[in-house]
Amino acid sequence: MKIDIVSVFPEYFEVMNLSLMGKAQAKGLLEIKAHNLRDWTHDVHHSVDDTPVGGGAGMVMKPEVWSECLDELLGFSRPSESSALSGTPVLIFPNPSAPLFTQRDATELSHADHLLFGCGRYEGYDARIPDYYRSQGVDVREYSIGDYVLNGGEVAVSVMLEAITRLMPGFMGNPDSIVEESYTGEGALLEHRQYTKPAVWRGISVPEVLLSGNHGKVDRFRRDEALTRTNEIRPDLIEALDCKALDKADRKTLMALGWEVSATHPRRLAD
Ligand code: ADE
Repeated sequence: MKIDIVSVFPEYFEVMNLSLMGKAQAKGLLEIKAHNLRDWTHDVHHSVDDTPVGGGAGMVMKPEVWSECLDELLGFSRPSESSALSGTPVLIFPNPSAPLFTQRDATELSHADHLLFGCGRYEGYDARIPDYYRSQGVDVREYSIGDYVLNGGEVAVSVMLEAITRLMPGFMGNPDSIVEESYTGEGALLEHRQYTKPAVWRGISVPEVLLSGNHGKVDRFRRDEALTRTNEIRPDLIEALDCKALDKADRKTLMALGWEVSATHPRRLAD
C-alpha cells in the first residue's frame, strides 16, 4: 500500500519508521511518504493559511496551496493520467466535525492500494477543498477520531494509519490476534480481559477457569465477560447486536443483564 501524507510538520511522521510500521516498510508492504505542504507555496513567508471569511477566531488553510499540492499528488497535473481516476488514491482529511472513524472504516481502507492524507492545522481547511475533489470523482473521506479537539490532523492521521495498516495481510506476525479483538466483525463487543503468568500475583489470582484447560469453558467465560463488560461500558454495542447471531448461552447472559432478546436487536428492559 502506498501512503502519502501532507502536513506542515512532515517530521512528525518519522515515527512511522519504528516498530511494526517500520518493519512493514522494510518488507515492502508499505511505502509511506510525508510531504511538506509549504513546498507548494510561492510567497516568501510560505503561508498556508488566511483569516476566515465571515469573521471569527483563528486561521483557515488556503485552498490554492492545497490544490497545487493535491493536483500533483493525485496526478491531475499530468494530463495523460488525469482521466484515469480509477488509479487515484482515497483522499482522507481528519476533521473533528466529521463522522467518527471506526474499525469498519479501517477494515475497508486496509484493502486500498493508495491513501492520501491531508493534515489540517489551525481552525481547519477551506471547505471547498474536499468538495472540489469529490466533484472530480475522487473518493474523499473526512473523519474525526473522537469527540475532542486536537491541534492538528497529524495525531489523527497516525491513529487512523495504525488502525488501517495492522489489518493488511502480512502486517501482523500472528493474524489470529486481530480476529478476536474488540470492535471486530458484525457482533462487535469489547474484548474479555487478559492475564498472563504467574497464576497468583501480589495475592491476586487469575480466574480459575482459565487454568482448567477446558477450552469450551474458557471460551464461554470469555464470551460472558465480553458481554458483561460491553453491557457496562458500551451498551450501545449490545443494542446493535443481531439477536439471530446469539447462541442460547449468550441470550441467557444478556437476559440476566436485563436485556430482552426476542426482537431483531436486544432491547433493554425497564429497571
Ligand atoms: N483535528 C483536530 N481534532 C481532530 C479530531 N478529533 N479528529 C480528527 N481530526 C482532528
